[in-house]
Amino acid sequence: MVTIKLTRTSTDDFTALRRLFDDPSFHGWSGSGRVSDDVIRTKYLGLRYPNVECFLVLVDDDVAGFTQLHVADEGEGGGMDLILLPQVRGQGVGQQVVMEMVRLAQEEHEWSRFTVDPDITNTDGIRFWQRCGFIPEEVITVPETSTTGVIMAWPTTEVNGHRYLATGVNVVKGSP
Ligand SMILES: CC(C)(COP(=O)(O)OP(=O)(O)OC[C@H]1O[C@@H](n2cnc3c(N)ncnc32)[C@H](O)[C@@H]1OP(=O)(O)O)[C@@H](O)C(=O)NCCC(=O)NCCS
Repeated sequence: MVTIKLTRTSTDDFTALRRLFDDPSFHGWSGSGRVSDDVIRTKYLGLRYPNVECFLVLVDDDVAGFTQLHVADEGEGGGMDLILLPQVRGQGVGQQVVMEMVRLAQEEHEWSRFTVDPDITNTDGIRFWQRCGFIPEEVITVPETSTTGVIMAWPTTEVNGHRYLATGVNVVKGSP
């Protein structure tokens, strides 16, 4: 299995992020077309911390993807986004990143809710999140962008009246 590492982005990472977002597979990520220098600077260099935490995904020490955690649900919970270069897909990297992000959500943030919201047309993405353990909850349309997404949530357990993100999630293989 390949080894992955997540490193928090900083203002030193502009070049690495520029290279990543110049890959055609990253075009259209959170908007349309090639992501501008301005968007990289304002959104992905870590300047929105602590509300948004951005990470480079390193695969065998090479920059191979981008992931972020963001606060949601009035601070009770959060969400994540993930995109990888095509050459590292299909080897379990995405699943390893999700496991690490769930660990951060549980141990550092102690969130009681953790969600993803893939576009409804991204059936591959929806299937990936489901394989990782997220459960589809509802379909929502964002009026500002006219996009329709599927809200998917990490399973939770309740202990003494407190809700926790579940550990040891058993993903049912073979469906959908
Ligand atoms: C979605 C993405 C992050 C998956 O990463 P990955 O490293 O290829 O996924 P993994 O190899 O860890 O796969 C984990 C599971 O998801 C499934 N899966 C991954 N990509 C899939 C796809 N395109 N279609 C169907 N299932 C998929 C795998 O089969 C695997 O299930 P299994 O354990 O039953 O075999 C990657 O394809 C990507 O960057 N896509 C473009 C951006 C995107 O769509 N992001 C998510 C939606 S916002």
